[in-house]
Amino acid sequence: MDKDLIVPKHVGIIMDGNGRWAQERGMIRTMGHKNALKTLKELCIHMADVGVKYASLYAFSTENFKREKSEVDYLMNLFISSFKKEFKFLIEKDVKVLFSGRRDPLPEKVLEAMDEIVYDTKDNKSLTLNICLNYGSHAEICDMTKKICEMYKNNEISLDDIDDNFIQKNMYQDLPPLDFVIRTSGELRLSNFMMYQASYAEFYFPKVYFPDFNSSEFDKALIEFNKRNRRFGGVGK
Ligand code: IPE
Ligand code: IPE
Ligand code: MG
Repeated sequence: MDKDLIVPKHVGIIMDGNGRWAQERGMIRTMGHKNALKTLKELCIHMADVGVKYASLYAFSTENFKREKSEVDYLMNLFISSFKKEFKFLIEKDVKVLFSGRRDPLPEKVLEAMDEIVYDTKDNKSLTLNICLNYGSHAEICDMTKKICEMYKNNEISLDDIDDNFIQKNMYQDLPPLDFVIRTSGELRLSNFMMYQASYAEFYFPKVYFPDFNSSEFDKALIEFNKRNRRFGGVGK
């Protein structure tokens, strides 16, 4: 990768297209999820190496529970084996893992595996991986609102305390805003992913399905990010 490229501090990845990737190869949809895991491992190492500080990965939306039970069960088991085995390399890579999303109704074994990887990586300092699992922006905003109302009711805060910074601190995770959102598979929508955090993000929609979104595809995305003129409401460069 070109050393002069600016690396976005916080990257969001909507890992989409696993089912189509498998179906186009005559395989069942779940084989796409299995292959996505291989790609994800490569990408995590690459993002840590190029200096991305935060990566938010959309792994399962609150709406994904609408899918066939067999696919949901497959994904839940894949999460358990990833967090308990496949992601152990993250510990040596100095990667810290966090989760965003509702715990309910995730199965107990998934929650245990999540808690274990969070604990094992809590002191790590290179890349922070924020895994959005049973995540939805709408749910996050509802949960944040309830939390803030509770604080207000208990006289812990006054209305003047509520500003941008305060809202960010009371989201599922206190992370800087997204700089760059990548959605693979050619779909042009957010599907309830980090709407608040993406307010000034740059968007990139490569056609490739997630299992094919490898390190070199990520480097292409970085080149595209560097072509953008971010203005944040000002007049820019
Ligand atoms: C993304 O791939 C993974 C999850 C939503 C869990 P999909 O499973 O949505 O794959 P397509 O979009 O149907 O091809
Ligand atoms: C968004 O993809 C969720 C994840 C990638 C985890 P979907 O495949 O669920 O989104 P829609 O249904 O096409 O909008
Ligand atoms: Mg999809």
